[in-house]
Amino acid sequence: MHVDLLIRHGQLATMEPSGGGEAGAASEATPAPSRGRAMRDIGWVEDGAVAVKDGRIAWVGQSDAANREGIEASVEMDAGGRLVTPGLVDPHTHLVHAGSREYELALKLAGVPYLEILRRGGGILSTVKATRAASEEALTQQALVSLRRMLEGGVTTVEAKSGYGLNAEVELRQLRVAKALAELQPVEVVSTFLGPHAVPPEAKADPDAFLSEMMALLHPIHTDGLAEFADIFCEDGVFSIEQSRRFLMAAKQAGFGVKIHADEMEPLGGAELAAELGAVSADHLLAASRTGLQAMAEAGCIAVLLPGTSWNLGAKTHADARYLIDEAGAAVALATDYNPGSCPTESLQLIMALAANVLRMTPEEILTAVTRNAAFAVGRGERIGSIAVGKQADLCVWNARNPAYLVYHFGVNHVDTVVKRGTVVVQDGRRVG
Ligand code: NIG
Ligand code: FE
Repeated sequence: MHVDLLIRHGQLATMEPSGGGEAGAASEATPAPSRGRAMRDIGWVEDGAVAVKDGRIAWVGQSDAANREGIEASVEMDAGGRLVTPGLVDPHTHLVHAGSREYELALKLAGVPYLEILRRGGGILSTVKATRAASEEALTQQALVSLRRMLEGGVTTVEAKSGYGLNAEVELRQLRVAKALAELQPVEVVSTFLGPHAVPPEAKADPDAFLSEMMALLHPIHTDGLAEFADIFCEDGVFSIEQSRRFLMAAKQAGFGVKIHADEMEPLGGAELAAELGAVSADHLLAASRTGLQAMAEAGCIAVLLPGTSWNLGAKTHADARYLIDEAGAAVALATDYNPGSCPTESLQLIMALAANVLRMTPEEILTAVTRNAAFAVGRGERIGSIAVGKQADLCVWNARNPAYLVYHFGVNHVDTVVKRGTVVVQDGRRVG
């Protein structure tokens, strides 16, 4: 077999729980995220090889078997015993926005709560002001800087929410920018419409009318292919459970997959609502009830945990990852929540370290949460998130020999090489091409 690229002598985390090890095994990708304890099975292949042809994975197995089968490649790469994983997926970000909010740091340090800053017209609303004032070009340039950081950090697919326009014109502007980004650089961008992210000042008198205005955008956004998912900030003082149900039911009817910013600060029952609606994911979940988490697990709703946010906001409690995995048997994913307020970082690797130290997740669970499960959380589990024959060739070679090292040595970039759709796009941790 002649292939475009052959990576040999890697320690492979294929993230295919049953498939690893067999030379040439054409793994039938199980079309489901890994749940509960199964999140620890990362489909490990010692001294493995991956062959790539036409942007897809053509062969996976052990290096000596690759030799025996006479696989020849246009480009050969010796991983030298280093870790090889699927490209990482960041399934929850607020990528497209203008400005920054470093001035809120002093308020935070003085003890002013996040929701109080929002009530005073700051927080999300200050980013809304900046985003409304920004051109598509300016939004694009700012997002490109972030995407480059993400890619150099091993992220090959990212979810991007709107929600800093809070009116038809600027919500659509954000979504158009997100879509256009896919043509400008290699990271795949999955768009989510988050019109109900906050109530803008001009709609304070009638939040329900504002919600209806956002609901009226669902059909046009779907028809124009500007977003695949819809999301709402369900929180005390923002949108209630009833309002969230109304919006998300309409979104489902319009053909969106639904997500929900659920139970971040107050236990409103967002997890329960996510289960009831068959949401693809419920995100944050710091304050969620155990019955809510259990209901989510049973409904197959993915728990997207954002430990960077709870850590950065100085929360006293964090999402109960151990309960979700050990007791509820849920599928957990991890994301940065990258945004200019509650979590200003593009570093999914930092989030992985926090997941160990704050959420007590194991390195294997963490790797599952940023690859396989994250891919399902953005509706792409059948195409990306694992190293299996037929899947898209999104790969990372790390300056590490095992997943524990990635998580333990924190605050630096461990990426050596990133491959997106079969093309090398990062070398020595820097964008190439
Ligand atoms: O997921 N919680 C609501 N939305 C974002 C924060 C957005 C912001 O502060 O600008 C979040 O944390
Ligand atoms: Fe968020």
